[in-house]
Amino acid sequence: MIGIGVIGAGYWGPKHVRNFSELPGARATMVADLDERRIRAIQSQHPGIRTTSNYQDLLNSQDVDAVVIATPDHWHHRMTLDAFDAGKHVYVEKPMTWSIEQGREVVAATAKSGKLLMVGSGAKTSPLTAKAREIITELTSR
Ligand SMILES: NC(=O)c1ccc[n+]([C@@H]2O[C@H](COP(=O)([O-])OP(=O)(O)OC[C@H]3O[C@@H](n4cnc5c(N)ncnc54)[C@H](O)[C@@H]3O)[C@@H](O)[C@H]2O)c1
Repeated sequence: MIGIGVIGAGYWGPKHVRNFSELPGARATMVADLDERRIRAIQSQHPGIRTTSNYQDLLNSQDVDAVVIATPDHWHHRMTLDAFDAGKHVYVEKPMTWSIEQGREVVAATAKSGKLLMVGSGAKTSPLTAKAREIITELTSR
């Protein structure tokens, strides 16, 4: 079972908690957010899920194998590097970073870490888009 830790429980974070928990072999184990209201909301939707206001606690957690970063854009670079330092795989929301320099740093850190990095772009990875691709491939191969 792959344990997923979600940092940021605003608009996208709770969707990731639900979607990853529905995947076979994966389970959201912990959520971090600075805002107590967001923490209370996620606890009411997912009773028993562990929560913290300090994302470092989540990164130090043994039952978190991979981290979803769904915080505002300016946090993506720092949190991605911290997650690699903690030995976690990373799914970070788009945009990956705020600048080209930060982007280069993240690419180098990914290679050095030996971990997986996925940059989330809902429109490109949704089941609906996958189905559209399948239909177009089928139609154009006739
Ligand atoms: N996947 C997509 O297609 C897609 C679409 C739109 C936006 N996004 C990106 O998703 C990310 C999240 O967007 P959102 O709309 O959910 O934002 P949001 O503002 O609704 O939620 C962000 C959450 O992060 C929390 N947070 C901020 N700093 C924190 C910290 N240091 N530690 C812990 N929690 C912290 C906030 O309290 C908030 O609850 C953004 O980077 C946005 O650009 C992705």
